[in-house]
Formats: sequence, structure tokens, C-alpha cells
Amino acid sequence: MTQEAHVTQGPLTTEAGAPVADNQNSETAGVGGPVLVQDQLLLEKLAHFNRERIPERIVHARGAGAYGTFTVTADVTQYTRAKFLSEVGKQTETFLRFSTVAGNLGAADAVRDPRGWALKFYTEEGNYDLVGNNTPVFFIKDAIKFPDFIHTQKRDPYTGSQEADNVWDFWGLSPEATHQVTWLFGDRGIPASYRHMNGYGSHTFQWNNEAGEVFWVKYHFKTDQGIKNLTAGEAELLAGKDPDSHQRDLRESIERGEFPSWTVQVQIMPAADAANYRFNPFDLTKVWPHEDYPPIEIGKLELNRNPENIFAEVEQSIFSPAHFVPGIGPSPDKMLQGRLFAYGDAHRYRVGINADHLPVNRPHATEARTHARDGFLYDGRHKGAKNYEPNSFGGPHQTDRPLWASSAVTGGTGNHAAAVHAEDDDFVQAGNLYRLMSEDEKGRLVDNLAGFIAKVSRDDIAERAIGNFRRADGDFGKRLDTAVQALRG
Ligand code: HEM
Repeated sequence: MTQEAHVTQGPLTTEAGAPVADNQNSETAGVGGPVLVQDQLLLEKLAHFNRERIPERIVHARGAGAYGTFTVTADVTQYTRAKFLSEVGKQTETFLRFSTVAGNLGAADAVRDPRGWALKFYTEEGNYDLVGNNTPVFFIKDAIKFPDFIHTQKRDPYTGSQEADNVWDFWGLSPEATHQVTWLFGDRGIPASYRHMNGYGSHTFQWNNEAGEVFWVKYHFKTDQGIKNLTAGEAELLAGKDPDSHQRDLRESIERGEFPSWTVQVQIMPAADAANYRFNPFDLTKVWPHEDYPPIEIGKLELNRNPENIFAEVEQSIFSPAHFVPGIGPSPDKMLQGRLFAYGDAHRYRVGINADHLPVNRPHATEARTHARDGFLYDGRHKGAKNYEPNSFGGPHQTDRPLWASSAVTGGTGNHAAAVHAEDDDFVQAGNLYRLMSEDEKGRLVDNLAGFIAKVSRDDIAERAIGNFRRADGDFGKRLDTAVQALRG
């Protein structure tokens, strides 16, 4: 559908529906006289305009979205009892919002930054949200570090700009970031469009089947359009010429009927493997090597419908890693655990307590049946129904079956580092990624990193940052050191 289809017929009205006689001239006392307070149309228009903005997302403010269809292509009932995955050929409506992370709402699309991949499945058992990125790993592994990390990515409180000092100081002091930073400054760090990149659930999640057996799962969405990236130079030009490049590309391709699609795969680990796996399988800074857990194809995702109103459907859309359905649940990943709280809290602040009632956010294939009532913009949907449970008047009641299976826990409370596995380490996978790259790609990676590290004001910050890459791979560290020295003189 294109914009022409949205024209409204009939006379212009006020918000209360009364016809408007003049929308060009305010009502004045005499031809040259002052404006009258009785011009209620003027007051209504100015007051509404003053309230048009809601707070932007604290991260991932800049984004674009589209509706689509998820189709199951393999039988996974031995792993999960989720109904939307219960049959080959079964289709579920989805909404996917892509984003960048650090930029504000008006920022350019073509920048070096992870891309958000927030996917809502409107299932018959409630909405299931998979709030991932275009990278399989992340910069940190404990939610307690997230506000500090994001402060280094956003504008400095004194200069008002993003500062290389803050970024590299934090990354240098957080060696667990080395893998994701190597990924981000490599060729995939600036996708050519949202259509030409993969998506990942990134965390490990729990699947559980009818028999109550538990599996740990990672999701991969492989682009059917092929991977296409921009070099740093191409991105700089595009960001200046067309700041909305990715948003435009997505909308126009769907308008043309060229529906982007992704092949959906999962890696599945039987629960019993987790304790003795060679590294912590819930560590978000690591991938599971495919030779250990080969990806299995389970579905197809296609985007085929543009939103009709960006504010209503993209800006006010909400996604939460805590939105699970029966058969799917969290893992003990400490990042994921923190996110289970953070998103609902952000939604209540940013969009309001009834954010889940908006058309884009509410379940489409079932209904929400709660005893929550009232608050800003409550629409009266429950009419006169009783608002408590248990009650003797019928109405919704609990099922007695949790969405996910119970997990055993051991040990005392405390601010523990994660459980130790034989190969826990912050550098091996970063080094492996570097060694996988072609000679040309290594060169671009080193140039991209060096250009940014060279901007820091203190040698100790630069040296510590380079030291992490040296620990990942000796050659990587040496080349980076030489490149940074050359730029710093
Ligand atoms: C958005 C918190 C880690 C992906 C957000 C928002 C918050 C947040 C508060 C804004 C939500 C809103 O206003 O609607 C956190 C915290 C994290 C974390 C506390 C770490 C503990 C991650 C990770 C990923 C991720 C690891 C990906 C693997 C996203 C995406 C969005 C987002 C895609 C945008 C969702 C949308 O399109 O509405 N995050 N985040 N975040 N986050 Fe995170």
C-alpha cells in the first residue's frame, strides 16, 4: 500500500468533530486586532502540537519497521511445545523493528553501530518478542555494566558529543568487549541496508517440550538477499546524502513488492550439556561453534507490509525480552536476566502503562485477559467485568502450567562472576574471528580501529585498548599498534 491510499474524505473538523470554517486565519478582534481566546481551534492546534513528542528510546532510538509472516519449515515439536512452531507450514504474523543503537531519533542510518533486530510474533498463545541484534554476541556479559557502557556510546555530559576517550577507556577496561568490537569494526559493522544483514537472538534461550524436557537454543536469521556492507568511506557519503537510507530502502522495497526474507535457524543444546560445556554457554560475548551445535533450519521470515503511520506503529511499538509464550523461556544469562526487567520499565516510562493496548503492541491472534485496569488512556475494554481473581463470578483464571521449565540452582547468593568452565576467556573467539578474515578485510579492520583509537587524548587509554587486540592475536595487535602510532605521530 502507498501513501495515496490513506486520504480521508469529508470536511476538516476539530478534535471533537465540529466542522472547521477557516484553517488559515486566526480569529481576531477587527481586521488588524489581537487574537481572541475564543479561537479554540488555534488553542487546540498549538496545545496538541506542543505534546507531539514522547521520550525517544534511551537506546535504539533511530529505527524502521515492517509487518511480515513467519512460516515453519521443520518439525521442532521434540524441542518445544510453542504452538506457533507446532506444524510445518504454520504461519504467524510478525512485526520487525530494525534500529541503530547509539544515535538519537534523527541520526543517520549508515553508521558503524550494531543494528537492532526486534521481532514480535503475534502467536495464538500471546506475543513472543525476540529482541536481538545483527550480531551474535555483545560487548558485555552482565546487565549491571549496561548503563555505564551506554554512557560511553552516547554524548559526553561536558562536550555534548560522543568521545573516543570514553568509548576506548571503557572497552580497554572491559576485555570481554574485544570479540564484539572486532566484529563491529570489520566489514559487517556497516550493513548496506536492513535487508542485507542477518539477525540473531544473541542470547541463549530455553525451549521446553510437552514432556518437560529442556533445551538451550540460539536463533539465527540468515538474509536471503545476501550480505552487503558499506565501507567506512561509502557510509560517510551516504549518511550525508541520505540520512534515512535504510528506512527508505526497506519501505520502497516492500512498496515494490520485493519482500525481504530470512531463513531461520536454531542451534540446540540438550540441557545436560550445559554444565560441562567447554565455556559458559550463557555468556553473551561468545558464539557456539557450529561444529559443536550445527544450525538447523526451522522457518522462513518474510516482511511484506509497511506500517501506515510511523509514530503509532514504529515509535510507539514496544518489544520485551520478557514476552515469552508456553514452551519458551529465559536462560540464566545475566544480561538477559537484567533485560527481563529493563524493557517493561522503559515502556511504562516512554509510552505509558497502557502501551500494550495499542494496535501494534496488543496480541493479534488471541486477547490479553488480565485484571489490570485504569491508568492514562485506558480504553475501557473490560467494561463491567470483575477486576480481581480468585472470584466467584467466572472470568479469566490461572492455568497452573508455567511457560518454562524449572532450573536447578546451587550455592549461596553473592556478586559472583559466572560459573567457571575450562575455556572461559575473553580473547580466543576474537582471535578466531580475526584469523578467519581475508588479508583485505584484516587491513580494513585495522584501519577502522586505528582511525578511532588514534583520537583518544591519553596514551595509556590507547595502549590498553590495543593490548586487548594483541591478546586476541599477536599479528592483530602489532598491526594495530603500528597503524595507531602512524596516525598519532
Ligand atoms: C532497546 C535496555 C542489551 C537489543 C532497549 C531499551 C532499553 C534497553 C531500556 C529501550 C526500550 C524502549 O524504550 O522501548 C537494555 C539493557 C541491556 C540491553 C539494560 C543489557 C542488560 C541488549 C542486547 C540486545 C539489545 C544484548 C541485543 C542482543 C535491543 C533492541 C532494542 C533495545 C533491538 C530496540 C527495541 C525496539 O526496536 O523497540 N534496550 N538493552 N539490547 N535493545 Fe536493549
